[in-house]
Amino acid sequence: MPIDFLKYPLPARVRHHTAPGLYMKHSELKEVSDSYPPLIEKMDWSKIYSNGKPPDLFDVGCGKGKLLLEQAERHPDKNAMGIEVRAWAATWLQGVIEGEEIGNCHTIWYSVVNGLHFIEDNSIEEVYYLFPDPWSKRKHRKRRAFTTEMLDEYSRIIKKDGKIHLATDVAEVHEYHLEILQSNAKLTYKVVESDEEWGLPVTNKERFCRKENIHFDRIIAKLKD
Ligand SMILES: C[S@@+](CC[C@H](N)C(=O)[O-])C[C@H]1O[C@@H](n2cnc3c(N)ncnc32)[C@H](O)[C@@H]1O
Repeated sequence: MPIDFLKYPLPARVRHHTAPGLYMKHSELKEVSDSYPPLIEKMDWSKIYSNGKPPDLFDVGCGKGKLLLEQAERHPDKNAMGIEVRAWAATWLQGVIEGEEIGNCHTIWYSVVNGLHFIEDNSIEEVYYLFPDPWSKRKHRKRRAFTTEMLDEYSRIIKKDGKIHLATDVAEVHEYHLEILQSNAKLTYKVVESDEEWGLPVTNKERFCRKENIHFDRIIAKLKD
């Protein structure tokens, strides 16, 4: 059944980019503001998902969660996890998930740059890192969450036949993704042209790009055999 989003009004005033410190690692901050998400030590999946199991599908920077909710619906036997750094978006999306009683979907308010130590090795089927904030100005690039360190984490958490999906509508960010991927000896990757090969529902940002006829690039990375 389609979700009636009228039941879940968005907050009246939404700040798109709050404190710049939000995008830095907690350990790098001199002062931590109230808008900075809590650190996570460990997750008890038995309290999160109705089947008590850990997540299978993992959406980093899930925003308002269009893809996350659709993946949870498409794959009722899999657990979908979203991570979102902006409190209002994480709270709103979790409200939808709880309101609709979607037992295989969950969002956490967290910044991925603080690591994924609470996710088991070789446990995730698919990681999504889709249409990240581009942070194109040179002085803002350190806010990007896709780094060699994060890619090591993604290659640690994915299963042997797992996939990492990347998409962006910014050509320079696509080049940056390719550069980071080339530095990882464990992974192989492919630039994907066809929707069929991509195989994912459209995200909020992708829907906007399609409507406005904005080009975007997609990559699927996998562990080498
Ligand atoms: C441009 S939006 C794209 C949202 C969604 N993936 C889509 O394609 O529609 C990027 C999202 O990543 C989130 N984000 C940025 N840095 C993050 C971080 N370090 N940890 C978690 N989420 C982050 C932003 O708050 C924003 O919701």
